[in-house]
Amino acid sequence: MATAENKTPYLTMADQADRHLLYQASVQNPDFELDFIDDTFKDIRGRKPKSMREDFAGTAISSCRWVKRRRSNTAIAVDFDPEVLAWSKQHNIPKLTAEQKQRIELIEDDVLNVTTDKVEVLQAYNFSYWFFQERATMLAYFKRTREALVDDGLLFLDVFGGSECYQTQKEKRKVDGFKYIWEQAEFNAITNELKCHIHFHFPDKSKIKKAFSYTWRVWGARELREILMEAGYSETIVYRQKFDPKTDEALDDYIATDDAEDYACWLGYIVAKP
Ligand SMILES: C[S@@+](CC[C@H](N)C(=O)[O-])C[C@H]1O[C@@H](n2cnc3c(N)ncnc32)[C@H](O)[C@@H]1O
Repeated sequence: MATAENKTPYLTMADQADRHLLYQASVQNPDFELDFIDDTFKDIRGRKPKSMREDFAGTAISSCRWVKRRRSNTAIAVDFDPEVLAWSKQHNIPKLTAEQKQRIELIEDDVLNVTTDKVEVLQAYNFSYWFFQERATMLAYFKRTREALVDDGLLFLDVFGGSECYQTQKEKRKVDGFKYIWEQAEFNAITNELKCHIHFHFPDKSKIKKAFSYTWRVWGARELREILMEAGYSETIVYRQKFDPKTDEALDDYIATDDAEDYACWLGYIVAKP
């Protein structure tokens, strides 16, 4: 008979979920991103890169996939949050072989201050560099990335644009076993400050509200390119997501171009050459 002492408490799906695993499953696509890095680097530099630094690394999943890709690859993952790095050490790093573990380094530090060995690729993905709201801070960050790259290295940033950046909205997407909700909760049309949240909803109706929250400045591709040049980069290239000409559906394919129509939402990459 169940008594107050031995009764197992009922746990919802939300209670049992791990927000970092949900984030990796719903937000990140490291293999796609690393393919883009490999292919673009080969196009521009004529070789496959080996050394990579991942800024704002979070769980460092991209760095883990990078060292698995080729025996010659090395990765440095930088994040200033000890909790997320501890999670990485508990969940992602153990999935690497002993040999792969020798080729990855996790560093707890602020990307504005960290000093690392020079690398061929420096990636800052998922718009985390938009945490920097002041132009002077963005310039300082780009200068630091320039110093961290070998002379024929490349910086990879992602970027988004279009009228939907400048408004509040919610976007829902089904992922295996849960729903991912992206909420742009507040937008300040004077400062361009955007407050966003990620929520997760489960089939048993339980929820993790505000699993992750970010306050970003919405930067434009043009002004970012200008700041990159000011920081000492010699050239920048924007790769814009392609759209199906008949359906207007966004495609997983990017072209180097300065042309963009007034898309409601477009994703892209900025690649900068030292
Ligand atoms: C949205 S997550 C990005 C995770 C991953 N890079 C991705 O592509 O999804 C943002 C991460 O940036 C880290 N972060 C924010 N500001 C930082 C800074 N100045 N220096 C180092 N890490 C920072 C946070 O701790 C958080 O783990």
